[in-house]
Amino acid sequence: MVEPTPTISGTAVCGFILMNIILRKYGFFRYFCKRFFPIFERQQALSNMKKYIMLDINTIEHLDKIATPFYYYDMELFQKTVDHVAELAQQHEIKVHYAIKANVERRLLEYISSKGFGADCVSGNEVLHAHSCGFPAGKIVYAGVGKSDKEIYDAMMLGIEAFNCESLQEIFVINEMAHLHGVKANISVRINPDIDAHTHKYVTTGLYENKFGISNHEFDKLIEFLQKSEHINFFGLHFHIGSQITRVNEVFSLECKRVNEIVRYFESKGLTVKNINLGGGLGVDYDDPDGSPVADFETWFNAISSNIIRRKDQSVHVEPGRSLVAQCASLISRVLFVKSGETKNFLIMDAGMNDLIRPALYGAYHKIENLSAAQRSFFPTYQAYDIVGPVCESSDVWGAGRLLPLSVRGDLMAIRSTGAYGQVMASRYNMKDLAPTVFSDRLEEAPQAVDYFDLSTRVQ
Ligand SMILES: Cc1ncc(COP(=O)(O)O)c(C=O)c1O
Repeated sequence: MVEPTPTISGTAVCGFILMNIILRKYGFFRYFCKRFFPIFERQQALSNMKKYIMLDINTIEHLDKIATPFYYYDMELFQKTVDHVAELAQQHEIKVHYAIKANVERRLLEYISSKGFGADCVSGNEVLHAHSCGFPAGKIVYAGVGKSDKEIYDAMMLGIEAFNCESLQEIFVINEMAHLHGVKANISVRINPDIDAHTHKYVTTGLYENKFGISNHEFDKLIEFLQKSEHINFFGLHFHIGSQITRVNEVFSLECKRVNEIVRYFESKGLTVKNINLGGGLGVDYDDPDGSPVADFETWFNAISSNIIRRKDQSVHVEPGRSLVAQCASLISRVLFVKSGETKNFLIMDAGMNDLIRPALYGAYHKIENLSAAQRSFFPTYQAYDIVGPVCESSDVWGAGRLLPLSVRGDLMAIRSTGAYGQVMASRYNMKDLAPTVFSDRLEEAPQAVDYFDLSTRVQ
């Protein structure tokens, strides 16, 4: 009788080798975490723009070595967002001007301008900065209720695409200045359409109670002036009704219908509206940045395409700010102290309202995560904290009564969705340093954290 030769199947050998590699590289603990807890693994699902873990375990390990606080930019998410918008814009034949007030970081602007977008600016310095970051003058528009004479002059000499004018007096001044300097200035008229954007009252801009734009009662005087003024070219109409708009289809459909009526009125008086600029305002998901890493641009573009009435010779513009950049950054901070008050527990962070003023200014919500605790334990005990900054103001609060895993001094924290209206509004209040920028693809350039308790780091 022939003894059967013992065999080991190829699959078993491969499985054994693979398991060995996994365990050697990650250890069983980390393998288990990566498998069952998504924070431990970057989910490469950006192609369908659905879910994306920005702060995965490898990233956290790098960030932990950097001196806090700092703004961390995920360049992959940023570029994918911009590319996605560029694609949609082309499909819908809608031109995009990025509202640079949301974030003026040079690297971001250079990428956005390289995609052929224009820039929407609200100050003379923004105009000059946009131009220096690659936006051609002919693709820069300039809005804002209070442009100084110097700002108007500089932009006029640069030959920008259009001034988005917000009052009759501003139009008279631009006309005079153009006359004086022997040029013709392109202007669009910003209209206040009196539409409720259903957003926070501090970021609503299209109601009669707001300071922006020109309203109905001045239309006839305006049209009369535009018809006879010799030193300005009437380019079109501009609208921007507010920011962080989440009822996207409802609000933007309504805006388009109102815009159609106003365009029809201006054209019925003999003016040609060459350009219809609908402004920005698309909201982002501050509650769930990983679940909705990219704003709902499809719904926005569809709402516009299906509701705006346009001729072949009319261009349509949008001006997204927040939606292009908000989700790609997190403000990374550290817990300095844990303090139990009489009725509350406080987590005192090293980032404050000087770094990001939105919570103090608008009561804005940002998701806050304890990145260290996520690595410490699978099933942590949760506790309610008032998370606060170091600045000497009672309004320097990141979030009250937030439920977080038990947190300790030194824990690394992430304040999410801070790419828009974050760094641009930072100040040096309390003489704090400005939080630096750290890019995901240039982590080695980031300023390293110093351990002040380690004597070996001391200069002898
Ligand atoms: C004229 C104008 N256009 C566009 C925007 C960008 O808005 P958002 O960041 O909400 O897209 C703003 C911001 O307030 C604005 O004032």
